[in-house]
Amino acid sequence: MRDMSLFGPLTIIDMTIQARDLCEYLGGYGGNGLVLAVDLVNIPHNSLMRCSHAAVKEIHYNPKLKRPYHFFIGVNTSTVPAGYFPEGLFPRFILQLSTDDPERLERRDLMVGTIPGLSRGPVQRPKTPPGVSVKTISHLPFQSYLPGGNLFHVPFPIKATAGFCLFRRAFHIELTEVQLKLLDEWATVLTPVAMGMGSIAGGTRASEIATIFHDIVSESDAGKKFLARAASRGMDGPLRMREMLIAFVFAGYGAPIGIISTAHQAILKIKRDSKALVPLFKQDPEAFVIEMLRHTLGASGMNPFAVPETKSYVLGTGRKFTETVGMYGTIAIWGANADPEVFGGPSKDLSHAKEFIPGRENADRVLSFAAELRDIRQCPNMTGCEVAPRFCLGAELALKVIEDVLSLVLESMEMAGADEL
Ligand code: HEM
Repeated sequence: MRDMSLFGPLTIIDMTIQARDLCEYLGGYGGNGLVLAVDLVNIPHNSLMRCSHAAVKEIHYNPKLKRPYHFFIGVNTSTVPAGYFPEGLFPRFILQLSTDDPERLERRDLMVGTIPGLSRGPVQRPKTPPGVSVKTISHLPFQSYLPGGNLFHVPFPIKATAGFCLFRRAFHIELTEVQLKLLDEWATVLTPVAMGMGSIAGGTRASEIATIFHDIVSESDAGKKFLARAASRGMDGPLRMREMLIAFVFAGYGAPIGIISTAHQAILKIKRDSKALVPLFKQDPEAFVIEMLRHTLGASGMNPFAVPETKSYVLGTGRKFTETVGMYGTIAIWGANADPEVFGGPSKDLSHAKEFIPGRENADRVLSFAAELRDIRQCPNMTGCEVAPRFCLGAELALKVIEDVLSLVLESMEMAGADEL
């Protein structure tokens, strides 16, 4: 029976959008640092949400972190209609694997060793996609945007630019205009299913588009290398290829918290104060993007984890809560990214933590990619290492693609002499 006196019920997306406010106003920072109890739709009990930087970090740095296998973000995977995900992907989709599952590292190694764009640093000048001109970008209606799963509010040329730059960097593939529309359709169809809102028609369409992209990538040099290496290692190459594409499209390109959302929120922010922000971007594009990630929803720890031990807590609200083994726990990366303990400067001030200061102290301690960027960059490659046992495989790629999109948009607006800039 649900305890309605707790906060909720919320979908996992509602929780994510409100995470920072919840953490601030319900005592999620300081003290034992952590928690408030939320009633999440689709989860059969109340979940304890981690807010502080230390508490969120502790979860992703646990080398034995367990994911509940049948639960993906906000949905029980056994209820998802056929077609959205390839047969055999669930319940062992890479995002669901426990941190100490050896297959997780094997699959990461397969991707990192064969997909050129995942590594840090290849210099590449960004390029606008076919069908998108200086004029289209500079005349876009940048209306405000409701974060949290709604890709419909983002103008298509921005999505096309993100998709084009993502595939160009990752696989050295230049998608056509028609393919970019399909990519957008695929992401739009996939997103709701993770919140439990799938349909038979959606599954059928997702499967059709997945096949098209599977073929496009399989024919590229990177795709051929990926499939050959998978075969030489006794892995199911086509299934792993499907998994990678879903990770790219769902976790990277189109998720409520991915590249598009971050780039679009950055553009809206720049438009509001272009005099100050355009020079800041130009001065250090990467620092700008990292600070932008800290200020946007981030992944917000959408994927619940399996609670490893029974423990009682006094929450920031004063409420007592006992978390028992096997329950689903949640984390609020977005909350942690404003924790004054880490981002509040010498006086650990929340208002300082909330300011937009690219290159700020501890900027590389942002948790948007699960582990701190500082630690990710200590690993020899994106497969991972002990210093950062679990992190986003696409972190370096995402930083570069967001930077690409922002440079192209700003360039176009400047070329067109858009008044607002
Ligand atoms: C702004 C963009 C992005 C953000 C904020 C982000 C964030 C995250 C986070 C927090 C995780 C950890 C999830 C978990 O452990 O359950 C994760 C995992 C992952 N991300 Fe990203 N991501 C982004 C872009 C991308 C891109 C572009 C790709 C494409 C390669 C990608 C691929 C993955 C994969 C494959 C995993 C699973 C890694 C594993 O569990 O071993 N992400 N991402």
